[in-house]
Amino acid sequence: MSSLLKKLDSEHFIPLRNRVVMSAMSRGFATPDHHATDDMRAYYARRAKGGAGLILTEGTLIHKSGDGWNNAPYIASDAHAESWKPVVDAVHEAGGAIACQLWHCGRISHSDYTGDAPVSSTNQAAAGINRQNGKPYGEPRALDASEMPTIYGYYADAAKRAIGAGFDAIELHIGHGYLADQFLDSRVNDRTDEYGGSVENRCRFALELVAEILKHVPANRILARISPSRFMGGIYEWPDLDEMLDYFIPQLWKLGLRAIDVSCANSDYFETSGKIIRKIRPNWPGVIMGGASLTQEQAEAEIDAGYLDLVTWGRLFMANPDLANKIAKGEPWTPYEDAMREVLA
Ligand SMILES: Cc1cc2nc3c(=O)[nH]c(=O)nc-3n(C[C@H](O)[C@H](O)[C@H](O)COP(=O)(O)O)c2cc1C
Repeated sequence: MSSLLKKLDSEHFIPLRNRVVMSAMSRGFATPDHHATDDMRAYYARRAKGGAGLILTEGTLIHKSGDGWNNAPYIASDAHAESWKPVVDAVHEAGGAIACQLWHCGRISHSDYTGDAPVSSTNQAAAGINRQNGKPYGEPRALDASEMPTIYGYYADAAKRAIGAGFDAIELHIGHGYLADQFLDSRVNDRTDEYGGSVENRCRFALELVAEILKHVPANRILARISPSRFMGGIYEWPDLDEMLDYFIPQLWKLGLRAIDVSCANSDYFETSGKIIRKIRPNWPGVIMGGASLTQEQAEAEIDAGYLDLVTWGRLFMANPDLANKIAKGEPWTPYEDAMREVLA
């Protein structure tokens, strides 16, 4: 049997029927007031019926201050959580599991979304254009240290709402240049207080956040998505990569986190995440999830070598709602095409 089809039975994470995971993909089909819809229910249910072991929701915003994406869903109120219940129930009815990805964009945003200035580790705007509204990224306001508990509170409230709505797990998005990564990354974090400067200080925001979530959600229902190495017009990684990994990863473990999702966004896995996972595996006896358009053979080899416990696919899940069933039947995979993003099918 393919190692992708073996159950996950780990003390560190919820039981899963197989190792095939759909990664988080923002699709922008929520209602204008950011509720999940019936079309979203059908879209996620289709992937569960197609055999996915675990589905990650698209980035789901914990608070308006974290918005930065057209028509993204929120989990910032009980009504938002309520709108997710039919999605969760449909995935469960199809025998799958679903985790809610909790998202705060920080400065990768604009006041068109946030109302007030976006918040970040820094006052410096991100370079470039926000493709969501076609405008330069907004000038952010650096969070004061006294505001951190409020931000952790938004995440904690969102996590409690997600668990209350029946989600099997939550994923903290602490990668891809979003809020927590704006603290981790020395190119962005220009603070001089206890949240900036040294490796320990730059890791403080993410570690305090994880510690807060662990007070409210059992460790085996929490994932954290990190992206120390990804492609952004070239390989883009934390400048002090080894120093960061040597401190951050063991600290996460010490706090009690047990499952991490190592992402490289849309990059070559072996040039980015694969390399990171080989560095951190000796310090991480828990669950490691990762991937990016791997072939079945590559994915199986990563599991068999003990690097990955769970393998994620994003775009191929857009193209193949029944990806897990195709693996089971040995059927060919439909290639992904950009046009597939336009519809929620
Ligand atoms: C349309 C689209 C939206 C995405 N949205 C998110 C997101 O909301 N959160 C996230 O962590 N990653 C997001 N990603 C990244 C994917 O989760 C995944 O890491 C990436 O697509 C690489 O995997 P793949 O090569 O298998 O598609 C998105 C990717 C795509 C293509």
